[in-house]
Parts: sequence; C-alpha cells; structure tokens
Amino acid sequence: MMGISALLFACGGSKDEGTTAEKSGNSEITKLVAGTDATYAPMEYIDESGEIVGINIDIVKAIAEELGIEIEFKNIGWEPLFPAVDNEEVDFAVSSITITEEREESYDFTEPYYVANQLILVPEDSDVESFADLKDKKVSAQINTTGHIAVKKLLGETSTNIVAAETMPLAISEMINGNADASVGDNSTVNEYIKNNPNVEVKTIEDDEFEKEYYGLMVKKGNSEVLQLLNEGIKKIKENGKLAEISGFEMEE
Ligand code: ARG
Repeated sequence: MMGISALLFACGGSKDEGTTAEKSGNSEITKLVAGTDATYAPMEYIDESGEIVGINIDIVKAIAEELGIEIEFKNIGWEPLFPAVDNEEVDFAVSSITITEEREESYDFTEPYYVANQLILVPEDSDVESFADLKDKKVSAQINTTGHIAVKKLLGETSTNIVAAETMPLAISEMINGNADASVGDNSTVNEYIKNNPNVEVKTIEDDEFEKEYYGLMVKKGNSEVLQLLNEGIKKIKENGKLAEISGFEMEE
C-alpha cells in the first residue's frame, strides 16, 4: 500500500518552485528533505511504530547534527526515488545507493560513506557454489539495483529467468516460494533476512566476482549547494568517528 501511495505521490504533478530546501534569512540551508526506499532493513526500513529508521538514516541524522540542520525523511520507494530527485520533490536520496558510473551520468553523488557487496541467497540444499553457477537458473533481485544489473550481465539483458521485484523482500519471497532458485542483493540486507528468519532453510554464497560497492547520497545533477553541504557533514562524521560507530566498520579511503 505504501508503495502505491508513494508512487502516486511521485507522479502527482511537477513542482516548479525549485528545491524543497529551507533556508534562513541569510540564505543558509536549515532543512533538507531526504527520500528513501524504506524496505531495506537494516539500512532503511519502517519500524513497528511506523517510523523510518536504519543505519543509513542514523548516518544522515549524524550528518545533520554536525551541520545543524533539520532533515525530513520521505518514504518514496526505489524506482520513484530517482525521478523524485529530478523533480526536486526531495533534496537528496539516501537508500543504500551504490555509486556507479552509469548513475553518475544523471546524478551527483557525495563522497562514499559505506562499503557493501552483493551476496547470493539460496535454499539450504541448493547446489549453487558461485555466481557463475546462476547462469542457467532463475534468479530474483530488486529491480534496477546493482544486484539486478549483475544478474542481467550474467543471464542476458532480456532473460526470462530473471525475476525483477519491486522490493528486496519481494525478491526474496519469490525465491522462498520457489519462483526463483536464488536471490541477489546487498550483503547487509541478505544477512538481515537470515537473522530475522532463523527457521527458513537458506544459506548465502559469496563470490569475489562481485566488486566492492560504495554507497553515496544522491542529489540532482548540478545541485552543488546541497552536495557540498552533505560532503561537509560526511567529512565531519568520518573525522570524529561517528560514521564508524554507526556503520560498525572503518571506511578505508
Ligand atoms: N546498493 C544497491 C543499488 O544501489 C541496492 C540498493 C537498494 N536500496 C533500497 N533501499 N532498496 O542498486
């Protein structure tokens, strides 16, 4: 339901009054609106009380605290998130977004602040041992994510063996229900699924074929004002140790 209303909202007319950033009298930014796809626990998700929470959300809150600005989080969904940045419905996106060359053609990204990699999830009795083993299997992934892109590369752009789901939990459900032999997604989210579902008989497969992925905050192309501000905040939380404290690891430069 959330997905549908978020979608309608995203399509609900274009705004032309420019950015949603609020500014003080001397034109300093005092508030930014951040869009996310809160279906990606433990990175960004909705908790029992309906609030948008997660590691990425905590990172943005820490950045905001350093900058002395307010952040409003909006749950937009994954695919609508990209046009929402273009439409200036949000000032930036925080959604475990991997910085890729292709995305950099259309958006600007902050400095990387988190490192991840793809992980394969299969039923416990699966014979899959590597990513290459998925070549002739049915594989699910969240649509237009780096996992989906990797799977398309292996199976072929238009392969009917690819099950592209709107969210990662739905992609995993397809695998659990037998509609896919494996599921590919970011390590944090796949590991969280296993942690939260100890009775489901699945296992993960790592593969060095997958390149390291770096998350960045994403702004509209050319929005150097917001980009600079966010980079300033990222620099601060890298220096004062807050980032490492929240993410649980030190980011090597
Ligand atoms: N890191 C991956 C990508 O950028 C997956 C991110 C999905 N995030 C989400 N909140 N659904 O494509």
